[in-house]
Parts: sequence; C-alpha cells; structure tokens
Amino acid sequence: KKMGVPGKILCVLMLLSQQVFNDQETLHLPANYTVGWMETLDDEKLISDITLPGTHDSLALYGGFIAKLFPLGKKLLIMHGLVYQNANLKDALETIKTFLSKYKSETVLVRVKPVLFFKSKVPILVGQMAKNDPDSWTDETIPNIGQVRGKIVFVQKNLLLLHRLYETDKHNDYIVTNVEKKKEKIIKHLTETTYERYRADYVVLNYSSGTGMPRLRLDINPKSLAKQINPWLYKHLDNESKKTNPKPCFGVITMDFPGLDLIKKVTEFN
Ligand SMILES: *[C@@H]1O[C@H](CO)[C@@H](O)[C@H](O)[C@H]1NC(C)=O
Ligand SMILES: *[C@@H]1O[C@H](CO)[C@@H](O)[C@H](O)[C@H]1NC(C)=O
Ligand SMILES: *[C@@H]1O[C@H](CO)[C@@H](O)[C@H](O)[C@H]1NC(C)=O
Repeated sequence: KKMGVPGKILCVLMLLSQQVFNDQETLHLPANYTVGWMETLDDEKLISDITLPGTHDSLALYGGFIAKLFPLGKKLLIMHGLVYQNANLKDALETIKTFLSKYKSETVLVRVKPVLFFKSKVPILVGQMAKNDPDSWTDETIPNIGQVRGKIVFVQKNLLLLHRLYETDKHNDYIVTNVEKKKEKIIKHLTETTYERYRADYVVLNYSSGTGMPRLRLDINPKSLAKQINPWLYKHLDNESKKTNPKPCFGVITMDFPGLDLIKKVTEFN
C-alpha cells in the first residue's frame, strides 16, 4: 500500500528521531563507526576544552526520577529516587573500565551525586575508592587528555578532592513546564559555557535534559521531553557548527536518550 502524505511525514519524522533519540538500552553502532573518537584530539588539550556528550542519570533504568548514590555500609548503591537500581558504584566503574581497556585513547568523566541518608559519607567513600585506583585520575588540577587516556576522571562539585565542576543549570532548571522556555534556557546556558573564565578552571556540565513538575505537568517526563528537545538540539548545534569559526567549546552537554547522530554532532565540535 502506498503511503499517503501524512504517512510519509511520519516516516521522515521517525527516521529523524531514530538518529537523535534512542531509548533502547544499547546504542546500535554502524559497522564502520569508530568508537575511539578522542584518538585524534591533541594530547595537550585540557579536558575542560573538549565538547563532550554526556548522559544524565546514566544508571537510571528503573523507576522514575533522578539516579543518585546511597551508601549502605561501605557499598555505594545507585538509586533513582527511592528505587534501587540493582547496581553499586563499583560495578558501574567496572563496566567503564572494561570499555576503557578496549578503547585506550578514550576517557570517561564520572560525576557522582550523593542523595538520601548519610549524604556526607558518599564523597568520602567515593574519594577512597578513587584514590586507591590506578585507573582513576584524582589530581586536583584539570588534566589534559594525554594524561587521562584510558582513565576515569571524577568531576565533583563541592568536594575537597577531585575536580571543580561548574553547572550551568540553576536550582530547579531541570523542572520543565514549557518546552520553548527550556530551549531558550539551553541556548543561554550553552552560550554561558563558552566563556573562557569557566573553561580555564572548571569542567562545565551543561544539561539539555529535564522533567515535568510532578503533578503539574504529567505529560512532560524525561523521555517525552527528550523526544522534543533532541531533534531541536541537533538542529541548534548544526546551526552553531556552521556559524562559528573557530568552533566554540560547550563543555559536557548532558542529554537524555541521545541517538547516535546527536552524539556525533556533539563530538564534531572538537
Ligand atoms: C558508514 O556507512 C554508512 C552507510 O552504512 C555511510 O553512509 C557512511 O558514510 C559511512 N561512514 C564512514 C565514515 O565511512
Ligand atoms: C547548559 O548549561 C546551562 C546552565 O545550567 C543549562 O541551563 C543548559 O540547559 C545547558 N544546555 C544544554 C544543551 O545542556
Ligand atoms: C537553524 O537555522 C535555520 C536557518 O537559519 C533556522 O530557520 C532554524 O530555526 C535554526 N534552528 C534552530 C534549532 O536554531
């Protein structure tokens, strides 16, 4: 049966959303895709000068809201709201290390956000774990990529150990009641990110993710928002990449459910 115009439009939209939105557990890579995109980066380049694709609540596969850490004895459990994510930090780091042992030119930045009870214990436990780990970078200075290839770099806010992190999102920016306003905010934040004064001393974390206000906007959740934001963000970044020379640095662009083409668009800023 021939497709009518609405069918065709839907088909194009689906194609588009497949490239920029992905809600499957794994990202299916084309056979010719090069995973180690950091290989071509100059060793001297500070990690704060790299535009990096990031995920938000990376381990939140179960439950609703925001995945965070919760210490139980000496174990750091990964939580999403009150829902335990069947993972502890050590397991999560092992997964990253397996990746890094295969792709030695790469680095992975990890941010651990403590929540719930015994919050103050989390930084201490994470710090101990990292300091004893030869595969983690724990110097207080921002490293260049050459120093941290094959390593995990912990970026933390308000911790004595580890790196300084600047977040463009202000308190509650993640709550979205109006998608157009969210877009304006994202542009503002992306612009802010390119300021040299942040980049010298901080790894900048930039969010494009968000969720609706519980009870007020049940129709907006991280997934429905990402479906709207990701195609727009792709186009926005595409516009930016054509406009400016040299290319700006946006720091870490944190996304929900990014598809491969959106991820590639981010890495192309380097
Ligand atoms: C990878 O293959 C796709 C087709 O499957 C092609 O469009 C693309 O240009 C190829 N990329 C590279 C880097 O060869
Ligand atoms: C960049 O950071 C700002 C500041 O928090 C944030 O509001 C904005 O949403 C971020 N932009 C993206 C694309 O993540
Ligand atoms: C990208 O640029 C085109 C042409 O200038 C413009 O029409 C479009 O609104 C821009 N898209 C975004 C998302 O900024």
